[in-house]
Amino acid sequence: MCNTTLTIEDASIRQLDRLYEIETECFKKETFTKHQIAHLLTDYNSVSLIAKLNSEIIGFIIGMIYPEKNALAGHILTVDVLPAHRRKGIAKELLIEIERIFKEKGVKSSHLEVREDNVAAIRLYQKLGYQKVAKLKGYYGNAHGIYLKKDLA
Ligand SMILES: CC(C)(COP(=O)(O)OP(=O)(O)OC[C@H]1O[C@@H](n2cnc3c(N)ncnc32)[C@H](O)[C@@H]1OP(=O)(O)O)[C@@H](O)C(=O)NCCC(=O)NCCS
Repeated sequence: MCNTTLTIEDASIRQLDRLYEIETECFKKETFTKHQIAHLLTDYNSVSLIAKLNSEIIGFIIGMIYPEKNALAGHILTVDVLPAHRRKGIAKELLIEIERIFKEKGVKSSHLEVREDNVAAIRLYQKLGYQKVAKLKGYYGNAHGIYLKKDLA
């Protein structure tokens, strides 16, 4: 019998090599550099989580918290799940957990940008209640972006 256990845990700078490997497997272009991931993992205002299947890291999410007007806002910077583990609800679990942490820290809304041709990600975000606020013309150079937002209050 094969038991598999998915856990969502805090990410650490010690996992940088693995997270960068996943990032380059998930994005063929517009990847964060290793240096950028290291910076994000160690930023005081970031929330970084990994998804582990048994002991193997198979996905991660990074968000940042910052002040916006009179409230705190959360910005999802990346969510990556390895191709072999997709459509099993792992990105959804990562988003649910980061939103829970955002709320615990007093964040009132979560937002993000996504390429307008990234159907998988757009469907994921919409399923979790994110709504299109604006089109970001030329945001990705050769492709437009979409700005999505969700109230967490
Ligand atoms: C987008 C991504 C993170 C989704 O990860 P995932 O673990 O497969 O997503 P989930 O299994 O949690 O999907 C939850 C829901 O999102 C939607 N969804 C996810 N992938 C989809 C796809 N390929 N096509 C259509 N809808 C999709 C579905 O509604 C899905 O629910 P369902 O499986 O019950 O129909 C993953 O495809 C990925 O890593 N892509 C490359 C990196 C990327 O583009 N990240 C987002 C950058 S903004």
